[in-house]
Amino acid sequence: MAKKKGRLELVQMKQAGEKAAWVTAYDYPTATFAEAAGMDMILVGDSLGMVVLGYPGTVPVTMEDCIRHSQAVRRGAPNTFCIGDLPFLSYQVSDEDAVRNAGRFLKEADMDAVKLEGGRRVASRIRAIADAGILVMGHIGLTPQSSGQLGGFKAQGRDPESARELIKDALAVQEAGAFALLLEAVPPELTEFIWKKLTIPVYSIGAGAPCDGQLIICGDMLGLFQAFTPKFVKKYANVAAVEIEAFRAYISEVKQGQFPADEHVYHILKGKEEEFARMLEEFE
Ligand code: KIV
Repeated sequence: MAKKKGRLELVQMKQAGEKAAWVTAYDYPTATFAEAAGMDMILVGDSLGMVVLGYPGTVPVTMEDCIRHSQAVRRGAPNTFCIGDLPFLSYQVSDEDAVRNAGRFLKEADMDAVKLEGGRRVASRIRAIADAGILVMGHIGLTPQSSGQLGGFKAQGRDPESARELIKDALAVQEAGAFALLLEAVPPELTEFIWKKLTIPVYSIGAGAPCDGQLIICGDMLGLFQAFTPKFVKKYANVAAVEIEAFRAYISEVKQGQFPADEHVYHILKGKEEEFARMLEEFE
């Protein structure tokens, strides 16, 4: 079994030019499979709101949702670097809220780090969390919790003005003490510039290749999430089709009396058949 990675190993990977591959997970089985496959990191993203809970966005997701799912992921992936995602309103109001809620991920769900969305406007939150001794990752570009302000789930930083703001945000996130930065849905040219400018690891989800590694949403890559598929997603499997096929086969076999078959039932203990029959007679 590979040794669990920490911040140091992630920095060493960056220095060695080894890309980190990470994925979101929200439940025990997915976490188990991600760890078995050798994933470098797992994010228990608040995307669980859409992928697992069926909400139209991430805003309704609560700290309790995130803690419960983080606990399940940790049980499934005890040896993988796991990041808990601070949900909407768990850090926006005050530095104190941010530290308290970030700390809950460590104390209650044994996460290794937390992530929050935003650049300069959350710099004091990042500083407060880092000062509390907690590893914190920044996340800029398309930030789903503020998709209303951004005009929807749209790529960011495609023009010089907005790219300049994102560069300032990236610098502020590093300056505030984040151990890493995640860029979402920005052009690869901007990703490369930020990657070369910062000293902390920079990761991408939909932000191209030139950086220290890639994150993808498990529901997207496995073909489980059906509502929409962003341009940056590559589907590595069609698990939904496999599930629907299996459900159909089961329905058909139940209706035709083919399931359960003899091998799926528990027979009366050997030698107890006659006694069993007498016992049934008592009720006739
Ligand atoms: O919640 C999540 O999965 C995320 C990714 C979209 C980066 O924050």
